[in-house]
Amino acid sequence: MPKLPPNSLPAPAFDDPKHHLRIYHGDCLELLALIPESSVDLVFADPPYFLSNGGITCHAGKMVSVNKGEWDKLPGPDFGPVRARFDKVHDFNTAWLAAAQRVLKPNGSIWVSGTAHVIHSVGFAMQQLGFKLLNDISWVKPNPPPNLSCRYFTHATETIIWAAKNSKSRHTFHYKLMKEANRGKQMKSVWEIRPPEPWEKKFGKHPTQKPVALLERILLASSNEGDLVLDPFSGSGTTLLAAFRLRRHALGCELSADFLTLSLRRICSNLVQVDLSLTCVQFSLDPFPDPMDRSKCTHSRTVISSAARNLSSVLAGATFSRMPPQLQLVQQERRFYFIGRIKREVIFSVLADSLDDARQKFRASGRPDSDALFIVKTETEIYLA
Ligand SMILES: C[S@@+](CC[C@H](N)C(=O)[O-])C[C@H]1O[C@@H](n2cnc3c(N)ncnc32)[C@H](O)[C@@H]1O
Repeated sequence: MPKLPPNSLPAPAFDDPKHHLRIYHGDCLELLALIPESSVDLVFADPPYFLSNGGITCHAGKMVSVNKGEWDKLPGPDFGPVRARFDKVHDFNTAWLAAAQRVLKPNGSIWVSGTAHVIHSVGFAMQQLGFKLLNDISWVKPNPPPNLSCRYFTHATETIIWAAKNSKSRHTFHYKLMKEANRGKQMKSVWEIRPPEPWEKKFGKHPTQKPVALLERILLASSNEGDLVLDPFSGSGTTLLAAFRLRRHALGCELSADFLTLSLRRICSNLVQVDLSLTCVQFSLDPFPDPMDRSKCTHSRTVISSAARNLSSVLAGATFSRMPPQLQLVQQERRFYFIGRIKREVIFSVLADSLDDARQKFRASGRPDSDALFIVKTETEIYLA
């Protein structure tokens, strides 16, 4: 089974050894240079489009400037001969594509998404570098924003180029799976997939966030469980999320601290939901340790923080032997659960007023901070109903 590259790499911003997910904060060119040659099964890359140079677009029915951020501006001053500016873009694309090609395994493949602003440079650089072009997918967005200038067709597609490392590569393609997913017909290179759903943006927005469904299709088509997937421009972490859901290992790199934080929130929320549902069976808030007949008892109600919603099923079982005349708060506590980095179970739990307080108590128990991957805070209130 392929493993993530050894720890000769710099310290990652996020490392989950159990699910083999790792994200680095920094410039992907620097990171790619440190990844061992021929160690990655699949690359998905959504590089900067270099679109943010004063144009306009339509968002939620309003005219807004196309300004996705500093990272999306053409390198260097925004003037001068057009040729020189696009040479810079092409140099950038050639450099990161060559670095990605080096780390791909001999049979590995790469997917690169982009609009017309950048995808032709990407395709040309791939041909110059000797990649083997496999497909150019048209990702069709069913409800694109209208074209406000009325001087062009509405932009409704993005192109995703799929290429193998070189002409000798025997790339992975799960033809049958794709055919089944397409109701028994060969899947075409035109994919209609909706943009990210609201649940995908609940932790914040990335201006060019890709839908999880798109990444899931790509991973299912061209990789196997346990394969190592690399996203050098990981943005909000969509590729890592899809990799986690499909049991692939994944390595991401992101330049912006804000987008890195967003991706950590998205990924950690998924990890906690999965692992906490297994973990919570260990909790027992039953106030009566001895067996007794509670068939005539009333039920208590609980209020729990959303991060630990899974605990509600346990708490709902807590019962009391008499019916109070009015709703009465009988218990209130703030508890912190430390979930282990290696084995996903509660390795320490403590009542504390604040996170700092809880962490101090964790350290006082003799454990290093690095033993815990997550801390889950629950606020419990139990009322007699
Ligand atoms: C088009 S977005 C990727 C969005 C991503 N596919 C998603 O679903 O959220 C490109 C990302 O690359 C990052 N970026 C730009 N230059 C970079 C570099 N040299 N190294 C690493 N990340 C970079 C930007 O901050 C941005 O978040």
